[in-house]
Amino acid sequence: MVAKVNEYFKLIENNYLFVDIAKKVDEYQKENPSAEIIKMGIGDVTRPLPKSVIKAFKAAVDEMADYESFRGYGPEQGYAFLIDTIIENDYNPLGISLDTSEVFVSDGAKCDTGNFQELFSKDNVIAVTDPVYPVYIDSNVIAGRSGKLSDNGEYENIVYIPTTKENGFIPSLPDVPVDIIYLCYPNNPTGTTLTKDQLKVWVDYARENKAIILYDVAYEAFITENNIPHSIYEIDGAKEVAVEFKSFSKVAGFTGTRCAYTVVPKELKVEDEDGNDVYLNPLWNRRQSTKFNGVSYPVQRAAQAIYTLEGKKEILENIEYYMKNASIIRENLEKIGLTVYGGVNSPYIWVKTPKDMDSWSFFDILLDKAHVVGTPGVGFGPSGEGYLRLTAFNTLKNTKKAMDRISKLDI
Ligand code: MLT
Repeated sequence: MVAKVNEYFKLIENNYLFVDIAKKVDEYQKENPSAEIIKMGIGDVTRPLPKSVIKAFKAAVDEMADYESFRGYGPEQGYAFLIDTIIENDYNPLGISLDTSEVFVSDGAKCDTGNFQELFSKDNVIAVTDPVYPVYIDSNVIAGRSGKLSDNGEYENIVYIPTTKENGFIPSLPDVPVDIIYLCYPNNPTGTTLTKDQLKVWVDYARENKAIILYDVAYEAFITENNIPHSIYEIDGAKEVAVEFKSFSKVAGFTGTRCAYTVVPKELKVEDEDGNDVYLNPLWNRRQSTKFNGVSYPVQRAAQAIYTLEGKKEILENIEYYMKNASIIRENLEKIGLTVYGGVNSPYIWVKTPKDMDSWSFFDILLDKAHVVGTPGVGFGPSGEGYLRLTAFNTLKNTKKAMDRISKLDI
């Protein structure tokens, strides 16, 4: 006998996209120690946790120091104090009611969007918009649903739906049957959005075709325009077909602190091999209870503080700060003749490369000549070729400096 590997790992790219880029940047920095590199690649926040969050965080840590208030294992699904606060603030004002048992607190939307596919049969056909957040693809490759990577950059059993400037970044419905659809709006990486009517097309499709939508709204807080849905459950019938993933990472600076949540409505069901209904809510509950120990008590108290009056004010300031960066990036790049998308309802700016350059060449020019790090669009999928993503998450000072340097380039 010999221990054998999960063969599907052989089908995956060697490194996770952002790990690959970090390695490349580190090497460049070693070769060019005096280069003052500005990182606008991975979407990691730069502003510290809001004061109200820190206050609640510290108070909860103090509770852990006392026999009376110490807490051991918490509920795997999250504490009701946080879940009910989420429902009251994020859903009830949109006219959406949810039960406490329909919201699952977790340590990240990355983990949940990566893990949720475990609930589905290996035979399900997965559809993604292309370019796409790599986690949706990679987790399905590891699970054995993807088939091989073809020369065109697509896995043979995954359905890719292009979203590019040619279709105004509006994905069209798949022309082959699909079972599980990943949608992310405001979109990572393109920063573009769907209106309610455009999202309704997908909800209706899923209802008619018994498909499930995995809807990632990690960037919802950055929406500034009307008529852009803040939750998929604003669309009639969505509770029958959609799971929703949301994160505190970008909105409140929790990338290092870790807290997020996933909504799995009770109505949501799939079928077993014999055609019997199987509900996803108890299944996800079972999955989480088995593999997840819950988010720590102090972190959940810290997350709850985001919803206090003071907390709301503070996170709004953070969002406005980052969105100011986004408009600075848009304006400066447009001024030098580049075409840009996103950055209005999202902290991501999706830049068309100049002179039809490929994504990695543009990445190299920005790194070498401006010491600015972006993310090559092709890293997000074949339809990302010819684009590069910049984030608005750096400081105002660095954002201005980066734009200054890029403006001086001959591109
Ligand atoms: C990104 O840069 O796309 C994000 O930071 C990735 C993530 O949130 O996991």
